[in-house]
Amino acid sequence: MSNFEYANAPESKTIAKISQSYDLFIGGKFVKPKKGKSFNTVNPATEEVLAKIAYADKLDIDLAVSSARSAYTKVWSKLPAKERGKYLYRIARILQERAREFAVVETLDNGKPIRESRDTDIPLATAHFFYHAGWADKLEFAGVGNNPKSLGVVGQIIPWNFPLLMLAWKIAPALATGNTVVLKPAETTPLTALLFAEVCQQAGLPDGVVNIITGDGITGAALVNHPDINKIAFTGSTEVGKAIARSISSTKKSATLELGGKAANIVFEDAAIDEAVEGIVNGIFFNQGHVCCAGSRLLLQENVMDEVLEKLKKRMSLIRVGDPMDKNTDLGAINSSEQLKRIKDLASAGDSEGANRWSPECKLPSKGYWFAPTIFTGVSQSHRIAREEIFGPVLSVLTFRTPIEAIEKANNTMYGLSAGIWSDKGSKILWAAKQLKAGVIWSNTFNKFDPASPFGGYKESGWGREGGRHGLAAYLESDAKVNK
Ligand code: NAI
Ligand code: MG
Repeated sequence: MSNFEYANAPESKTIAKISQSYDLFIGGKFVKPKKGKSFNTVNPATEEVLAKIAYADKLDIDLAVSSARSAYTKVWSKLPAKERGKYLYRIARILQERAREFAVVETLDNGKPIRESRDTDIPLATAHFFYHAGWADKLEFAGVGNNPKSLGVVGQIIPWNFPLLMLAWKIAPALATGNTVVLKPAETTPLTALLFAEVCQQAGLPDGVVNIITGDGITGAALVNHPDINKIAFTGSTEVGKAIARSISSTKKSATLELGGKAANIVFEDAAIDEAVEGIVNGIFFNQGHVCCAGSRLLLQENVMDEVLEKLKKRMSLIRVGDPMDKNTDLGAINSSEQLKRIKDLASAGDSEGANRWSPECKLPSKGYWFAPTIFTGVSQSHRIAREEIFGPVLSVLTFRTPIEAIEKANNTMYGLSAGIWSDKGSKILWAAKQLKAGVIWSNTFNKFDPASPFGGYKESGWGREGGRHGLAAYLESDAKVNK
């Protein structure tokens, strides 16, 4: 099959108004960091500096937490629930109105294709606010008693793979349940969180209900260790998740941790193969594979392996890698040079442990951080590329002969965030879903998200759930507990 020729279809950068520098958002205003330190955020597709970002340290965090505390005690916890809901609706509507601007800023700062930020990240973030707006005055149905109480001030730390979407997953339930927040975006993707701070101002959200502090892991650790925080909500690496669990273990702080994954995407012999190939591609190449629930371990039933691999390679040859601002692009830039190095190191481990690497022919841009879509065949369970999260566009292919072997291999991991099942037989799908130790299981599809559906993992993939009723419960305590 020959490649289609596409005319360029670039989205316009002028839709986004990115300032040269950004301060911290504390108490409803942009304020300078006390020590005047800053760092740059770059466009990973071009290595151009996009903006200078304030670096928050301990003194700034003290200010942000005290502003969140006073907003909590004086305003937010006293507001009727219905009024909280109105603010969430207002935020959702503004995000919808400014969707194109948010999509452009997300793509410039993160490197993901504009098609994905436009069609996935921003609409899902908006949906999360709409969904939680509806919950604000119905919390007695959240499953934590008749009169559930908010926790207080929540510290929230998010990663760089879905910057605005992870912000929405954190802020929407926290506000709906009556908590106030101090949120730290990742150091490589702070811009949409800072744009969101403007949305809070535009919505007239009371000062201090949402505070955004920018910085790195040291800033994040200082937020975790602040004594006046009631709960930590974190999404990121398992290593940092464990460090957070250790540092709050002697405190009364509660935590939800959304960590890594190494999901099995299982294709049985009776699957619709063409659909499965689409699902495999979506499972690992969506968002450059920077996805905690990515289908990064493909388990193929041995008798369909040749057919699936042949079709998969053909399909991979059609993946368009390059300028994330081009609306035709399927695979954008790797988010940072550090992440590119991690991907390269793990892929080299695949080579040296004896797996076979394959990538379609594709020309990568000379500037920026890029990695071609890649599959490894001949992978065994002991290989690092079968055990460790690569967090890039790299798929490890393993095989199985019987359904029981598929389940054993799928569950043979320290993670358990998600899994995929491809089969024509409903009974087999239900049987397999029951055996799999994973929080989210997709059948005959992959990477589908809905704010009403809880998301979270088993084992080292984390603690707690986000989204749905379960996600609300993580921001509430029952009356009985409060009175103890
Ligand atoms: P990371 O876990 O270091 O960063 C995530 C967030 O945590 C960032 O905002 C960061 O500033 C903050 N942070 C870092 N150290 C902290 C600490 N000690 N205390 C509090 N906050 C801290 O992840 P990183 O280094 O960006 O990526 C490393 C690997 O982690 C990736 O290769 C990937 O495998 C995994 N990862 C998983 C994610 C997920 O969605 N589950 C998201 C990002 C990374
Ligand atoms: Mg950036």
